[in-house]
Amino acid sequence: MISIKNVQKIFPSKQGQLRAVDDVNLEIQEGEIFGVIGYSGAGKSTLIRMLNGLELPTDGTVTIADRVISKIKGAELRKARQEISMIFQHFNLLWSRTVSENIAFPLEIAGIKGPERQKRVSELIKLVGLEGRENAYPSQLSGGQKQRVGIARALANNPKVLLCDEATSALDPQTTDSILELLVDINKRLGLTIVLITHEMHVIRKICHQVAVMESGRVVELGPVLDVFKNPQQPITKRFVQQVTEPEETKETTQHLLELYPHGQVVQLSFIGEATEHPLITNVIRNFDVVVNILQGKISHTQNGSYGTLFIHLDGQASEIQNAIDYIHSQQVGVEVISNG
Ligand SMILES: Nc1ncnc2c1ncn2[C@@H]1O[C@H](COP(=O)(O)OP(=O)(O)OP(=O)(O)O)[C@@H](O)[C@H]1O
Ligand SMILES: [Mg+2]
Repeated sequence: MISIKNVQKIFPSKQGQLRAVDDVNLEIQEGEIFGVIGYSGAGKSTLIRMLNGLELPTDGTVTIADRVISKIKGAELRKARQEISMIFQHFNLLWSRTVSENIAFPLEIAGIKGPERQKRVSELIKLVGLEGRENAYPSQLSGGQKQRVGIARALANNPKVLLCDEATSALDPQTTDSILELLVDINKRLGLTIVLITHEMHVIRKICHQVAVMESGRVVELGPVLDVFKNPQQPITKRFVQQVTEPEETKETTQHLLELYPHGQVVQLSFIGEATEHPLITNVIRNFDVVVNILQGKISHTQNGSYGTLFIHLDGQASEIQNAIDYIHSQQVGVEVISNG
């Protein structure tokens, strides 16, 4: 769907040349939610702006749905842009127009008239959950509602690709979640390809299938979100992953757990992918004569599965504890005994 090949963007600067994007190669599949994460200045916005021709690469090619975006100009580029729309951190709404009028704007430009335009606007209002707010002005809306208008406007002309530049960075965590859920819903319902850039790993974890990590203009790590979370390679990726996995599994806490539970055994369980924690614990309690205490843990859910760690305490007869541990092993869950009572 989207192919980025050997793309470079060099800006002239006082200190010489600035490589904002440095030899990036990415393949994004149709229907995928693809995340790009990096700190400020990594080149994320420059990269995404080359996907809709707002910025031209100094070198390399950008191809979307067999169209070489980095080569076309004028009317052809304007036509291509109808299929590649964008939402922004600060919404970019027209302040003197109502919600309906903002959403109608791209339809007016595309030459869609009268009742057909009205019908499409109503569909979009419904799609993004803004019923009842049709005649409000942007200044009367919450941040989340403003971004819903931005999304409806972006979807007006049935694009194939939606680009999101920090679309939730101006929103509080709860509103962020509701906008992310809307994006997942649209992705599933319309099969829309979404490219999203962010500096928050939470956003990647919640909705992306694939992630690219950018640092100083380069993609330093790339893969399915779950793989990157399980096994981050680069120091920068490890830092991002730490944003969403609390540093609970430290030596101190483990030591502390051993002191709290001198009898029985403290066991660390690692879940990856399909394995889920709830039926496992239930089955242990049902099938073995052991007492189970859930001590602490964190399970994170990504678009391609769950992963995380759970510390439990098992008490009872040594042989029965061992049977329970053997059972857990057989369930494709990582088990590490960290104490022997
Ligand atoms: N039009 C421009 N002219 C000159 N330099 C630019 C231009 N646009 C971006 N840059 C520089 O390119 C680098 C990458 O900028 P970019 O905006 O792509 O980063 P970003 O990852 O989106 O950062 P942020 O998270 O702050 O939005 C920065 O050093 C920036 O100053
Ligand atoms: Mg940016």
